[in-house]
Amino acid sequence: MLVTEEKTGLRAIIAIHSTARGPAFGGCRYWSYGSDLAAMEDALRLSRGMSLKNAMADLPFGGGKAVILRGDGQHERNAMYQAFGRAVQVLAGTYITGEDVGTSVADMLAVREVTPYAAGIPRPDGFGGNPSPKTALGVFAAIERGASHVFGARELSGLRVAVQGLGAVGWALAERLHRAGCKLVVADIDDSRTAAARRAFNAVVVAVDDIATQDVDILAPCALGATLHRQSIPALRARLVAGAANNQLATNGDGDALHERGIAYLPDYLVNAGGIISCVREYQGGFAEADVDAEVLRIANRVDSLFVRASSAGEPLSRAADRWALEKLAS
Ligand code: NAI
Repeated sequence: MLVTEEKTGLRAIIAIHSTARGPAFGGCRYWSYGSDLAAMEDALRLSRGMSLKNAMADLPFGGGKAVILRGDGQHERNAMYQAFGRAVQVLAGTYITGEDVGTSVADMLAVREVTPYAAGIPRPDGFGGNPSPKTALGVFAAIERGASHVFGARELSGLRVAVQGLGAVGWALAERLHRAGCKLVVADIDDSRTAAARRAFNAVVVAVDDIATQDVDILAPCALGATLHRQSIPALRARLVAGAANNQLATNGDGDALHERGIAYLPDYLVNAGGIISCVREYQGGFAEADVDAEVLRIANRVDSLFVRASSAGEPLSRAADRWALEKLAS
């Protein structure tokens, strides 16, 4: 669905990929795109990712995603998000929205004023709201379990991890990795974030173009998508790749290329489901935070199952995960 409202400056795309498991559930990205086509492609790719993510996490929801195209004009932000909320309302519950890159809890509160089909809003008991800490919890659990398969390591202490992007999830992940005794190498286009990481975690700061090729054990992509591709993969030195960014593989073939290089790639939609699990349970209501945390930590069990599935089928982790998620979607 394409939405335009001149008065508020809203230009948005709502992409619904699947409602096979239930209403489409996925966040809203606010971003500057090079073209409308690029925005459309992003929305479509992200919405497919949500179908796989929600299925893989056994959530009773389908996949959808929205993007708001960031324009040049100066428009009132609340009014624009309310206009977006009215479009969500028109879909009458077929699509439920939440935060994604560029969209804040305050923006979601504006959406919530005009439609109930919005999540990522703090509950009175304090649970809910910004999903990033839960995403980081799940990514950390996946890295821990992935490392045990790849390095035979019972704990992460001493392993070198490159964190690409120190935003809401990347920073929270870096905190956990630092506490676990990892040596961190970090990059972000925002120098204030890398400077803070140097101070807080004694992290080594490198240029954004160099982070993927660092001599590390683990690469955690936590910025934007499509960073794993034909050019970057041959130069990677990490043996495990697991991070929060959506759509890390530029193409499906890139998962094969990682496998051929002996690099274990844990698919983003398996690893980064903590945020959507949090949003869904907050939206449904009646879940205690401790139970939600336990549900997020079950991502580690799926990592175990994925290694078993991939090795028994003799296929790359990315292919085994896709097949598994599509089976769940089909059933
Ligand atoms: P964010 O916007 O808070 O952080 C992104 C960070 O990446 C920013 O600090 C930005 O300066 C940095 N960055 C941008 N381009 C970069 C580049 N080329 N190299 C290095 N750093 C760069 O976003 P957030 O919420 O932390 O999300 C990160 C990724 O995880 C996104 O791809 C998002 O879709 C995905 N994700 C986030 C979830 C959440 O709960 N926030 C849930 C699931 C996925």
